[in-house]
Amino acid sequence: IFDVVAQAPEDPILGLNEAFKTDPREKKVNLSIGVYCTEEGKVPLLNVVEKAEQKILEEGAPHTYLPISGLPSFTSGVQKLLFGEDSALIKDKKAVTVQSLGGTGALKVGADFLAQVLPNPEAIVSAPTWQNHVAIFEQAGFEVGSYPYYDKASGEINFPAMLESLKGLKENTVVILHACCHNPTGLDLTQEQWAQVVDVCAAHKLIPFLDIAYQGFGDGLEEDAGAIRQFAASGITFLVANSFSKSFSLYGERIGALTVVCHNSEEASRVMSALKAVIRANYSNPPAHGAKIVGQVLNDPELLAQWHADLKEMRERIKEMRRDLADELKALGAKKDFEFVTRQKGMFSFSGLTPEQVQRLKDEFGVYAVKSGRICVASLNKGNVKYTAEAIKEVL
Ligand code: LMR
Repeated sequence: IFDVVAQAPEDPILGLNEAFKTDPREKKVNLSIGVYCTEEGKVPLLNVVEKAEQKILEEGAPHTYLPISGLPSFTSGVQKLLFGEDSALIKDKKAVTVQSLGGTGALKVGADFLAQVLPNPEAIVSAPTWQNHVAIFEQAGFEVGSYPYYDKASGEINFPAMLESLKGLKENTVVILHACCHNPTGLDLTQEQWAQVVDVCAAHKLIPFLDIAYQGFGDGLEEDAGAIRQFAASGITFLVANSFSKSFSLYGERIGALTVVCHNSEEASRVMSALKAVIRANYSNPPAHGAKIVGQVLNDPELLAQWHADLKEMRERIKEMRRDLADELKALGAKKDFEFVTRQKGMFSFSGLTPEQVQRLKDEFGVYAVKSGRICVASLNKGNVKYTAEAIKEVL
C-alpha cells in the first residue's frame, strides 16, 4: 500500500536545522531556524523559567489531564497579555482562548475550526510569509493565495499594494497577518498603517487571523501588541495565534494559545464548544508543563517583572547583533549596504541573498540560512558575527 507514497522534501527550515547538527565542520553558524541563542551560542534556560519550575517541583502535583481548553490560569493570563489588563473584551467575555501546541498548533486548530464554519474556505498570506502558514491552511482545506508585502526593489513594505489587494478580497476571506516581527522580512507596519488594515478588514468583512509568535522581540510586550489592541478596539471578530516558544525559550514544550474574539459572550461560548470539539478529536487535551510555567509567571507580579527583564535582555542583544553585522560588513567593504538590517525587527533579517548565495554560504563556510535569504540574527554573537560577515562578503 505504501508504494504510492512519494518522498516528501525536507522541511525548508527544520530540515536545515537537522542538517546543521550533523555537519562535522568545526566552524559553522546556524542562522536557519528562529531560535534565540545567548552570547555563548546556547539556547537559554531563562531565570524566570527556572524559578517557575522550582515552584512547580515544590508543589509535587501529580500529572493529571488538563481540561480540553487548557490550564485556566494560563489561558486567562494570555488574554491579559494580548488585550491588556483592563480590556473591555475580557470584561465582556467576548474572547475565548484555548491552549495549543505552540503557535503552529494554534494556527492549526484555528484553521480546522474556520474550515468547518466557512463554505468555501479561502485564506491569504503575505508575500513572502513563514512557509508553514500555507501548508497549515492548505491541509485544513483552504485555498491559499497571497497579498503583496515585501518590495524587492526598495527592500521596504509595499503598503499601498497590500491595501489594494485586501480591498479586492471576497467577504469572509481569512487574512493571515504577522502582528509584529514579520517572519521572514523583519518589516512591520506602523500603527497608522495597521489602523488602515483594520478599516479595510471591517469594511470588506474579512476575517483577520493574527499570528504573534515574537511578542516582546520587537519593541516590548505592550508595544508589540499594538496591532492586536487596534483590532480589539474595532469591534470586529478575529483570531489570534500566539506562542511562548521564543519569548520564554520554551521551544520543546510546545506552548501557545488560540484566541477567538466574538461579537458577544453567547457567541463566544458556542465558539469555545466548537474549538474543544476540534481539539478533542485531534490530541484530546494539551500537555501541562509549559502551561504551568507560563501560567505561574503571568499571574505573579514578581516573576512577570523578571520575564520583562529577561525579554529586554534578549531583545537588546539582538539589536546589538544587527548593528555589529551591518558594521562588520561595512568595514569589510561589502558590495552591498547592510544598514537595513538594523531597521528590521525581531529575530529575522531578510538579507537579500539569492538562493545560490545561500547555498554557497552553507557549502563553503558552514553558514546556514533559509533559501529565501532569511537569516536568524538572534543566533549571532560576538564570536561568530565577524566570520558570518566575511562569509557573506565572499558570496556577494
Ligand atoms: C522559524 O520560522 O524558524 C520558526 O518559527 C521555527 C519553525 O517552526 O519554523
